[in-house]
Amino acid sequence: MLRFDIITIFPDFFDGAFDHGIIRRARAAGLVKIEAYDLRGWTSDKHHTVDDRPFGGGDGMVLKPEPIFAAVENLTGAGARDLYPKTTRVVLLSPQGRVFTQALAEELARAEQVVLICGRYEGVDERVAEALVTDEVSIGDYILSGGEPAAVVVVDAVVRLVPGALGSETSAVNESFSEGLLDCPHYTRPLEFRGMRVPEVLLSGHHALIARWRREEALRKTRRNRPDLLEKVSLDERERDWLNEEREF
Ligand code: ADE
Repeated sequence: MLRFDIITIFPDFFDGAFDHGIIRRARAAGLVKIEAYDLRGWTSDKHHTVDDRPFGGGDGMVLKPEPIFAAVENLTGAGARDLYPKTTRVVLLSPQGRVFTQALAEELARAEQVVLICGRYEGVDERVAEALVTDEVSIGDYILSGGEPAAVVVVDAVVRLVPGALGSETSAVNESFSEGLLDCPHYTRPLEFRGMRVPEVLLSGHHALIARWRREEALRKTRRNRPDLLEKVSLDERERDWLNEEREF
């Protein structure tokens, strides 16, 4: 059982967020448990203060360390990175993190506990990153108003990799990124729609030809939309030739 504990000042943000499709099924099957906690529950002052002005001046507010340390200590049983169980990851969602990838999702899917700290305001007191966090993670090079949408993204990407979460065990191996390429195009009925026909090869019943077409279309789409991915993937000679010939068009 993989457990996600989300620390946030907006626990209501997650109402219903994990009640659909694969995540809902994985929860119902007892494969994962997902809980969002109000950071204010770990404050000890009358006003339940979670933030304060930045030392050194400047705009905005910074999330205070004390409630976050108390929360992580409470949820993990330890108040320092080196003392967690080996299967515990404490993730800080922030635009300063390393970019979230399928590889990191696969790693997190092997954990037993993933604590997600949602940053807010102008930031989070850096001592949280220094002492508590095992992974500071960004979901991409853009600024969200808080880590909450990023936490939903991380939970979604990880849960579907937990063994048993997907209906068919093969569907996680065949998709974008698992081989370093984008996925190939897919078609369903009708055969012709607004003058656009499904590629003939897909109707041929010739499995080897279909497999080759899918691989080439995946290469074509990757070259168009994510040429950066092509440099990291190993292609055989025929595929390299095919890409080079294609380039002339
Ligand atoms: N918080 C604000 N922007 C973010 C991002 N891009 N990824 C993760 N957390 C964030």
